[in-house]
Amino acid sequence: MKNIFIKNIKGLVQVGEGLPLRIGGAKANELPVIEDAFLALEGGCKVVAYGGMKDWDGIDDWRDLEVIDAEGCYVMPAFCDSHTHTVFAKSREGEFVDRIKGLSYEDIALKGGGILNSAKALASLTENELFNVSYERVEKIIQSGTGALEIKSGYGLSVEAELKILRVIKRIKEKSPISIKATFLGAHAFPAKYKEDHNGYIDEIINTMIPVIAEEKLADYIDVFCERNYFSVDEMERILIAGKAIGLKPKVHVNQFSKMGGVAAAIACEAISVDHLEELGEADIQALKNTTCMPTFLPGCSHFLGIPFGNARRLIEENIPFSLASDYNPGSTPCYNLSQIWSLACIKMKLTPEEAFNALTINAAFAMGLGGSHGKISLGSESPIVLTKKIPSFEYIPYSFGENLIQRIFTKE
Ligand code: NIG
Ligand code: FE
Repeated sequence: MKNIFIKNIKGLVQVGEGLPLRIGGAKANELPVIEDAFLALEGGCKVVAYGGMKDWDGIDDWRDLEVIDAEGCYVMPAFCDSHTHTVFAKSREGEFVDRIKGLSYEDIALKGGGILNSAKALASLTENELFNVSYERVEKIIQSGTGALEIKSGYGLSVEAELKILRVIKRIKEKSPISIKATFLGAHAFPAKYKEDHNGYIDEIINTMIPVIAEEKLADYIDVFCERNYFSVDEMERILIAGKAIGLKPKVHVNQFSKMGGVAAAIACEAISVDHLEELGEADIQALKNTTCMPTFLPGCSHFLGIPFGNARRLIEENIPFSLASDYNPGSTPCYNLSQIWSLACIKMKLTPEEAFNALTINAAFAMGLGGSHGKISLGSESPIVLTKKIPSFEYIPYSFGENLIQRIFTKE
């Protein structure tokens, strides 16, 4: 078993015992940091000791020990990405150019592009081919500093293809050194043949897909794209109730383009998170108060589609914790790099570097069922850990947007 000792760390961030499971309001602007610190890891990333260099009393056992001098570098918990669509067949830069020329994301979808375009491409790949392209992405995602990853299905839209995606995610879970959570998003769009027969597709989801998912234990969460021209609030509720019956907790797409009451409805179905929220109304904010549902903003999507950034500052005023995630997917967010998302959150949502970092670590871990084990550095925790390059300060990371400042990530052996 390999042990690692990191010394002379400029700042050891998000570190301590008894850290909260969720952080909101004024507290979100605080981060526990030990300056001039050391950190000892066992078996890849299990924390066995940490503290200030002045308190370090030497190493007893130097066998199998890698010593890293982190002078000028920060060490922090890896980011948690609680919302991605990492399993897809190929990129959609053609639509990107169409949007530059004036079409909107919704125009493209109404013409049969968008999600249906991705479903067509995915249908032609074998499970192995889909696994290989997706696993390559997961490796790049980890190298960018992400230490826990949620992945949705949703580019299948048929029984066979949705199950193919979920089986690929299961294989990623087995092979990857980080925690992976699987979300069933069969209700991502209506396939062309069910355009006029919504109940036909919903019956297929409930009566054919969900029973196989239960049988093969293919998912942790259930998602629905609740939006105009996609799934209505009533349709979402029916699907979430069927998912809950086999133990899948709701985790949904709501309020991306419109306010339809999806936030309150998802909370009533005990959703662990409500994601997107570019269009966040006062009624939604009131519904979120005093719940454990984690609102999740996706600033990469807002940036790429040129739609509003969610009003996270209102949630801070209301003392409501929230998380940030990438939404990595080929249509609305071709960016998985959470350092970039951190920058966008600071620049466009006016979050402080500390507020955004809490949203990308402790709160993001909570949004994917890893609260208490990920997104922090505590004794015994096995959250992956990141070592930065030499940087002048912690806030230099979101400030220096576009630069890769992650030197190394430590994951389980
Ligand atoms: O979260 N909005 C729904 N789903 C994805 C985008 C899907 C796509 O365009 O391929 C999202 O933005
Ligand atoms: Fe999404």
